[in-house]
Amino acid sequence: MSEIKLVGVTRRFADDVAVDHVDLDIADGEFMILVGPSGSGKSTVLRMIAGLEDVSDGQVLIDGKDVTGSAPRDRNLAMVFQSYALYPHLTVRGNMEFPLKLKKMPRKEIDERVSRAAASLELQDLLDRKPAQLSGGQRQRVAMGRAIVREPSAFLLDEPLSNLDAQLRVQTRAELGELQERLKTTTVYVTHDQTEAMTLGDRVAVLRKGRLQQVGPPKELYLIPANVFVAGFIGSPGMNFFPATVDGTTVKLPMVEYELPARLADRSELLHGTHVVVGIRPEHFEDVGLVGRAERQAGVGFTAKVERLEWLGSELFVHFRVETSGDTGSETLREVVDELGASGVRGEHEMLTVARIDPASDIAEGDEAKFWLNTDRIHYFDADTGENLLQKADEIRAGDHLDADPSSTDDAGPAEPADPAEPAASVPPSVPPSVPPAVSPHG
Ligand SMILES: Nc1ncnc2c1ncn2[C@@H]1O[C@H](COP(=O)(O)OP(=O)(O)OP(=O)(O)O)[C@@H](O)[C@H]1O
Ligand SMILES: [Mg+2]
Repeated sequence: MSEIKLVGVTRRFADDVAVDHVDLDIADGEFMILVGPSGSGKSTVLRMIAGLEDVSDGQVLIDGKDVTGSAPRDRNLAMVFQSYALYPHLTVRGNMEFPLKLKKMPRKEIDERVSRAAASLELQDLLDRKPAQLSGGQRQRVAMGRAIVREPSAFLLDEPLSNLDAQLRVQTRAELGELQERLKTTTVYVTHDQTEAMTLGDRVAVLRKGRLQQVGPPKELYLIPANVFVAGFIGSPGMNFFPATVDGTTVKLPMVEYELPARLADRSELLHGTHVVVGIRPEHFEDVGLVGRAERQAGVGFTAKVERLEWLGSELFVHFRVETSGDTGSETLREVVDELGASGVRGEHEMLTVARIDPASDIAEGDEAKFWLNTDRIHYFDADTGENLLQKADEIRAGDHLDADPSSTDDAGPAEPADPAEPAASVPPSVPPSVPPAVSPHG
């Protein structure tokens, strides 16, 4: 059991800064995810924790002890990589006991540890097989087993599931989650897959270009994104972004105009004098015909041309085109969209607006369809800096959902209690706490 602390951890390669002043506290027993696009510095952070990579600046502390200069073997951490190389000539048992034999551990203890790990990973019946006789998922479990037998103070996992096919990945992900619950061993898990991040972690740390963007429980990142990057990265399909102008309490989007909800009206000055980009999640659109009269008042209707439908049974994604005059005028947003596009997070066609609407809708491709937009669930960003302009308001709105979340920790939780000035009765029975769809239609 261990707590891991990074203080201003930086890694430079020649002129490149791969990791830039990262501060991160990982609690004893916590499951921490590092997520970000390719090249954002995830593996480098993990390797610095492991002692496999030099730290250019800053400190790594394990249980309060500065280990920045210590060798990997003195840190008692176990690392599992994407390409978990098992020894092909050794059996499962041989592979699992290998690190213990290296340590010259007594035979009896080796046997005990291996059988304990094999039991927890359901590998008992496979102990005499060679890796070639195992499935990908089984091999992955052996690699975990080899880490577990060492009884390390923390696991460091670098994309351990990315070699598995989609179905196996989901299953193994669930098993990994259970295993960590049971062992309660501090775990740092690297992935570029936001679904994995959202489903596995107690907390998620989002990296972009070597810089930490936000750290928090999955729900918090989803409901209270600190900036445009986190907003666009977390959630699948991704958040839709539009340029906006705010005049008094009136917000003009390319497709519709609306009044800021009452709870935001006294914060409207935060939106004045700035280039504003609004973010709208797919589930905050609906087919107008399927919205109740009361709910309809908490939003606004508009018409758009339906370009494409994806019907998945339990959900329906509607892609529609919104005419913007040119582009958003936001360099920051353009950069983020490019980056997310490059990392496969937002596909080309997602430049269309994506709405997730009730599958009972009979909207058809080619329709000029009537949509409803929940104006209480919109996020507001500074187009130049990317910062969430109304983060405090997002926190208050999310407060109820997050208070109920036991994984929410004090350094990350919303600081303010629900706004007493908020007229609770006027808050519509909003769409349930937004959990991203488990299935991404975009692969
Ligand atoms: N040994 C090295 N020499 C020079 N540059 C390096 C070295 N290792 C990593 N980098 C650079 O540091 C940055 C971060 O790399 P890192 O491997 O940590 O990214 P990552 O987030 O793990 O990406 P991926 O998802 O592709 O694995 C990249 O720009 C990479 O090119
Ligand atoms: Mg990596």
